[in-house]
Amino acid sequence: MYNPFIFRAYQTKELFCDRQEELKILVTNTLSGADTTLIAQRRIGKTGLIYRLIDEIRSENLPILPIYVDIFATRSLEDFVKALSTAVMNAIPEKSSIGKRFAKFIRSLRPLITYDPLTSTPQIQLTLRGEDEQKQTLTGLLTFLDSQDKKILLAIDEFQQIREYPEKNVEAMLRTIIQTLNNVTFLYCGSKRHMMLDIFGGERNPFYRSTAFVTLQKLDHMVYAEFITKHFLDGGFNIDDDAADYILNWTRRHTYFTQRLCHAVYNMAHGKVDVALVKQAAAQILQSDSVVFGQYQQLLTAGQWNFLIAVAKEGEVSQTTSRQFLRKYHLGNPSSVNRIVTSLVEKNLLDESVEGGKPIYSLNDVFLSRWLEEVY
Ligand SMILES: Nc1ncnc2c1ncn2[C@@H]1O[C@H](COP(=O)(O)OP(=O)(O)OP(=O)(O)O)[C@@H](O)[C@H]1O
Ligand SMILES: [Mg+2]
Repeated sequence: MYNPFIFRAYQTKELFCDRQEELKILVTNTLSGADTTLIAQRRIGKTGLIYRLIDEIRSENLPILPIYVDIFATRSLEDFVKALSTAVMNAIPEKSSIGKRFAKFIRSLRPLITYDPLTSTPQIQLTLRGEDEQKQTLTGLLTFLDSQDKKILLAIDEFQQIREYPEKNVEAMLRTIIQTLNNVTFLYCGSKRHMMLDIFGGERNPFYRSTAFVTLQKLDHMVYAEFITKHFLDGGFNIDDDAADYILNWTRRHTYFTQRLCHAVYNMAHGKVDVALVKQAAAQILQSDSVVFGQYQQLLTAGQWNFLIAVAKEGEVSQTTSRQFLRKYHLGNPSSVNRIVTSLVEKNLLDESVEGGKPIYSLNDVFLSRWLEEVY
């Protein structure tokens, strides 16, 4: 049965809740040629919003050619260049004039085109010998895009990945090339807040303050509740206000988790949806995810695990080294807790957000948080 609550790739704007403000800013920036950095916690909806923007550009016929590239899986400059070439190839229609010119450009690089065995999308394999050739190709590629008769939006997802490349000065090199472009607008996106802020806000770094920032917060409770109610109703299910509120509170309005719970509830629904049904769906999710949670424990030290349990029980914690908090959960001394916090943030298990100048910590995985709360 068709389920309107998706927790995978973006589908349509009807299934995408709100983000009107952010979308407006992104559209304005794209049209005016202002580069933007989009930062938010994991799984809050960054990639979804980029797709929403691309959808808007297409459906409104905005004079922009959007190109999306996810560099999460890239490990080197060479990978980056390949990912970018592939993204360009897949974004421009083969038979269009840009497409023909691009084909000519790519042929000059003697590529091997292969096909992804699962999705059948074409992929470009380039043999780029050495850093110089990679740099040249990258310059060529971006200059090619810049010289087209259409403005281009290049959205690079998981941008902080460039920090993992073994090559030195990738940021400086990229920045140098990008600075010369007039027709390509960039949207940089990433979930590692520290790194993204350092890349774009670190005074000594090449990209320092070269972009506008957009941060994504959680969706508004009322707006999300309305969205949920509407989609249940459209499917013929009447959902109690209490039940919708329960979903949003239990998942802390963390988009991916809210979507997943809604999806599960929708699958179980018969006519009326109440809090009892929501609780049943939530329990089922925790039961099925508990396999993964057990794995986490194996990968962490006892101190890290205990710390996660403590934060899960509190929901969120602002002063991780307060005496009261340390004592309540037997967490040891402040310096070891500081180390634990750093490593858990680094592992993306702990989210560090800032409210009123103070950091607030919570578990990135809401389901893990709920499970720890229940089991320990
Ligand atoms: N506004 C929204 N309305 C409905 N569903 C959404 C919305 N935003 C995101 N989603 C869905 O929530 C899930 C997580 O969103 P998405 O993958 O965009 O997050 P992300 O911030 O890019 O995560 P990650 O940090 O893991 O890359 C996706 O399945 C997406 O389709
Ligand atoms: Mg993403």
